[in-house]
Amino acid sequence: MTQFGHFDDAAREYVITRPDTPWPWINYLGTRDFFSLISNTAGGYCFCRDAKFRRILRYRYNGVPMDAGGRYFYIKDGDTVWNPGWKPCKTPLDTYECRHGMGYTRIVGEKAGLRAEVLFFVPPDARCEIHRVKLTNTGKTPKRFQLWSFVEWCLWNASTDMENFQRNLSTGEVEIEPDALYHKTEYRERRDHYAFYGVNRPYDGFDTDRETFMGMYNGFEAPQQVLSGTSGNTVAHGWSPIASHRFDLELAPGASDELIFVLGYVKNPQEAKFTAPGVINKAQARKMLQAYGTPAGADIAFATLKSYWDDILSRFSVASAVPELDRTVNIWNQYQCMITFFFSRSASYFESGIGRGMGFRDSNQDLAGIVHLIPARARQRILDIAATQFPDGGCYHQYQPLTKRGNNDIGGGFNDDPLWLIFGTVAYIKETGDFGILHEKVPFDNKPGTEVSLLEHLKISFAHVTDNLGPHGLPLIGRADWNDCLNLNCFSDNPDESFQTTENKTEGSKAESLMIAGLFVAEGKDFAELLAHPAVAADPKYVAKVRSAVAAMEKAVKAHGWDGEWFLRAYGYYGDKIGSNENEEGKIFIESQGWCTMARIGADEGLCDKALDAAVKHLECEHGLVLNAPAYTRYIKDYGEISSYPQGYKENAGIFCHNNPWVIIGEAMAGRADDVWRHYCKITPAFTKDQSLRKVEPYVFCQMVAGRDAARPGEGKNSWLTGTAAWTWKCVSEFILGIKPQYDGLLIEPCIPVAYGTYKVHRRFRDAEYDLTIRCTGKPGASHFIPYIPGHHTLDIEL
Ligand code: BGC
Repeated sequence: MTQFGHFDDAAREYVITRPDTPWPWINYLGTRDFFSLISNTAGGYCFCRDAKFRRILRYRYNGVPMDAGGRYFYIKDGDTVWNPGWKPCKTPLDTYECRHGMGYTRIVGEKAGLRAEVLFFVPPDARCEIHRVKLTNTGKTPKRFQLWSFVEWCLWNASTDMENFQRNLSTGEVEIEPDALYHKTEYRERRDHYAFYGVNRPYDGFDTDRETFMGMYNGFEAPQQVLSGTSGNTVAHGWSPIASHRFDLELAPGASDELIFVLGYVKNPQEAKFTAPGVINKAQARKMLQAYGTPAGADIAFATLKSYWDDILSRFSVASAVPELDRTVNIWNQYQCMITFFFSRSASYFESGIGRGMGFRDSNQDLAGIVHLIPARARQRILDIAATQFPDGGCYHQYQPLTKRGNNDIGGGFNDDPLWLIFGTVAYIKETGDFGILHEKVPFDNKPGTEVSLLEHLKISFAHVTDNLGPHGLPLIGRADWNDCLNLNCFSDNPDESFQTTENKTEGSKAESLMIAGLFVAEGKDFAELLAHPAVAADPKYVAKVRSAVAAMEKAVKAHGWDGEWFLRAYGYYGDKIGSNENEEGKIFIESQGWCTMARIGADEGLCDKALDAAVKHLECEHGLVLNAPAYTRYIKDYGEISSYPQGYKENAGIFCHNNPWVIIGEAMAGRADDVWRHYCKITPAFTKDQSLRKVEPYVFCQMVAGRDAARPGEGKNSWLTGTAAWTWKCVSEFILGIKPQYDGLLIEPCIPVAYGTYKVHRRFRDAEYDLTIRCTGKPGASHFIPYIPGHHTLDIEL
């Protein structure tokens, strides 16, 4: 088994030791507005706030080889041209290492006695990337060599940049200054933003015209100027603007030199766009160049970044007997939760950054991973999401981060969406105790004048389910529930139609969802608890109404949603059963087993235990729990996209890691510690043995791992941006380690095999710090409540 890297826990880094990973293994830079994706060979791109509308660097999807384009440094030493990150020249290196850390990536390459170390990071709250290049002569003779920087500009809108060539090839504009190369396409008209690539030292040559730099028929691996040791000193007019600086350098044996590049974005006030006709106002860029363009400035920025992440990761940590658990909990799972919160499902190596924006359900679930880390930003996100709701409780399925407006292309009609607002808000208030958020005024569909309190939004979210019940008293599914690919009103035989937005039949639809039913019961109970809390003290009549709606739903699930050995998945358009033993394929689904057991529906009658047993029996495989079984082997028009996937992939019997924790939490609630642990280890990347098989990054969760029916079971896809991050976090922190935030304290209620059951947890909770030693002795249902009292507390808890 080939290994491509290893964890360095003390440094909180993943160390990649060879560049030819089975897939680009990436990292994310940025914490607020300016975000970057960077691969282990320095590929990727950046944008400011919105990956579609404010794209700074151009990136080619579907390129061959993939991941071409990024921030490249070319070194020409004699006749040899190489890159510190190996690509794009792929000249064999004497040494290569890439360390992905918290918000930074450090790539080191060494060739023939010349070492190049490049540190890439985005300082917190700054709108720029820093590329800190350190060159060292490790040999015994003096070195004369040349260095070129290279980035290619995107013409801002990442979508039209790839399509509208009749315009794009004429619009590109740049300005050349001694401190930086400026990109100002469309600035002359409606844009008030520009980008720049600066460096802290006079350069010996430059290029801004791609064809001149590359040569018309050359690729990234053989730029003409680099091969000939020159620069064209070109000023781009249209075509494809780039930025490249050249330096002619000399180093004595043992000597080092350093260059600091700043790749930034500036937005100017409309009235201060220009300093002379056609000349952009560069004041803000110069400020950034001054702030970061010295070793001391870059040191400070990097130290600030380090302390940002130190603070984030000092809020929850565990010390157990299992190193894989510790590194997941203390570092990578929390980091991935942050990244997923920042990016939602927009920009990754599986998401183009053009399509989706922020998902209503996705973003609400992401909150569960970060409320303990960045509560103020969670608060704002909840209010932004709620503002995309409609007065009837329905909501836009997605919204655009730049405008925060709902996305009309996809619209609404996903009937699980509203309930996730309750889920996100409850998670936030339990963590923070900030009941005040419920009184915040939030509009509908962002329309001024329509504001009602957030609490009202939650009430209409709840009512949206009870207002839309089907013939069995179960929730109507609408376009789809959490499983976007179970399209029961779509009936599509037209390949040009979207499964997600097309409803060819809705009139008289009886399609109902057991997943929403379980979600409703679980969230309804949480909602009632919130409403009844003295800090809310909602009208008792309303609380009673909520409770009786929940009880009615439980009754409906038991009467119509139980298949004998497990919970049904849904009723179809015609009232036919889905996820039933009566079906030939797709007899059992994971979502309803997860949600109905988390909601504890029929627990007293043994339904939860049976459903969990069925999940183990029918869904578990070597790499996790598959979504459904048996997989669909043909397209079924009545079910839609789910049956469009080949067996074992995505929603058709893939291991959809997002929903594994639902079953694991159900297991934990039922006290089945061995099952909990086994399922958790299977999907957690730190336990992965075969890196080649997994293919994607071994330090982050995937949305999907190929299931047992696939050609390569265990192969991961869609890493990074997935609800798996927040759900596995909730699962491990609250249900395995058992630290459950409550409105008035922490409830300690672990579910872990006794062999691993003694561990220490450090937990910051509001204005309190807890140092807990937890010793589980295996007593079923043991728990301990710690009331919230500000201050530092050290407790030894035996359960
Ligand atoms: C989407 C989720 C959806 C899931 C299952 C993900 O790609 O982001 O919104 O719930 O797929 O279909």
